[in-house]
Amino acid sequence: RPISIIGVPLDLGAGRSGAGIGPNAIRYAGVVERLEQLGCFVMDEGDLTVKGSNVTSTKQPNTKLKHLDEIVKVNEELSTKIGEAMAAGHFPLILGGDHSIAIGTLAGVRKSGGQYGLIWFDAHTDVNTGETTPTGNIHGMSLAVALGYGDPRLTSIGGGTAFIKPEHTVIVGARSIDPGERKFLKKLGVRVFTIRDVERLGIAKVMERALKIAARGTDGIHLSLDLDGLDPHDAPGVGTPVPGGLSLRESLLAMELISEAGVAVSAEFVEVNPTLDLRNKTARAAVDLIGALFGERII
Ligand code: ARG
Ligand code: MN
Ligand code: MN
Ligand code: MN
Repeated sequence: RPISIIGVPLDLGAGRSGAGIGPNAIRYAGVVERLEQLGCFVMDEGDLTVKGSNVTSTKQPNTKLKHLDEIVKVNEELSTKIGEAMAAGHFPLILGGDHSIAIGTLAGVRKSGGQYGLIWFDAHTDVNTGETTPTGNIHGMSLAVALGYGDPRLTSIGGGTAFIKPEHTVIVGARSIDPGERKFLKKLGVRVFTIRDVERLGIAKVMERALKIAARGTDGIHLSLDLDGLDPHDAPGVGTPVPGGLSLRESLLAMELISEAGVAVSAEFVEVNPTLDLRNKTARAAVDLIGALFGERII
């Protein structure tokens, strides 16, 4: 299956600037070459157009949903792109950009009308809404929106149908959850494998269970990978780092196991912030993870 690479240079969903240059940092780290070496057919469709960023925006929004208008616009466009790529039988590989782009990605994936499972790899759970958000940053709300909750302008993106079901959703690596998010996850019954579960069970067991939840009874799974799920030692270039995360090696094994299950239909790698990185280490980690997801092995 051909891979369609789509860059989304957006940082307005985050509280700081820099994630907007993530897509090119991942390209500089050699993502296309890596995939081609694996025998994949890759089409780099370039970046979506994003107007404004946390660097250039002069007005400081003090709302519950910061930069809502521009984020709606970019995600609407992204959902169209993803819908087209999937309809053409391609595998969309989205390069972020802050995690608010998962709103458009998943709206696009859902356009086919199928029921998809979701593996959300992240230090956070991103299930805030306008009511619960402590920051107003929309990157902390994107999973809630994918499940059908939040501001109607966000949930209606891409047509607002076939939301991801909580029973097909699984979060891996969480270690920073806000009080409102905890309630939401409990209420919906979303399965969360915290970093403590990874520590106790090991990543192999966690992924085996995660894959069952996301893949059983679905038409395939989407992987949404926030680089801050990794420990800041292995992925320092992220806007909201949380100590005590997964090692690069554990994360690679997670990708290898998803790859072996053969169930992924789309994937996104988000929150790479080159302005905070060390020698493009985080983008290089992203490329290593992408390689593993598409079949790269040590031997
Ligand atoms: N929970 C915090 C918030 O709502 C942090 C979210 C961080 N999200 C992310 N995708 N990095 O603002
Ligand atoms: Mn084609
Ligand atoms: Mn995160
Ligand atoms: Mn996130």
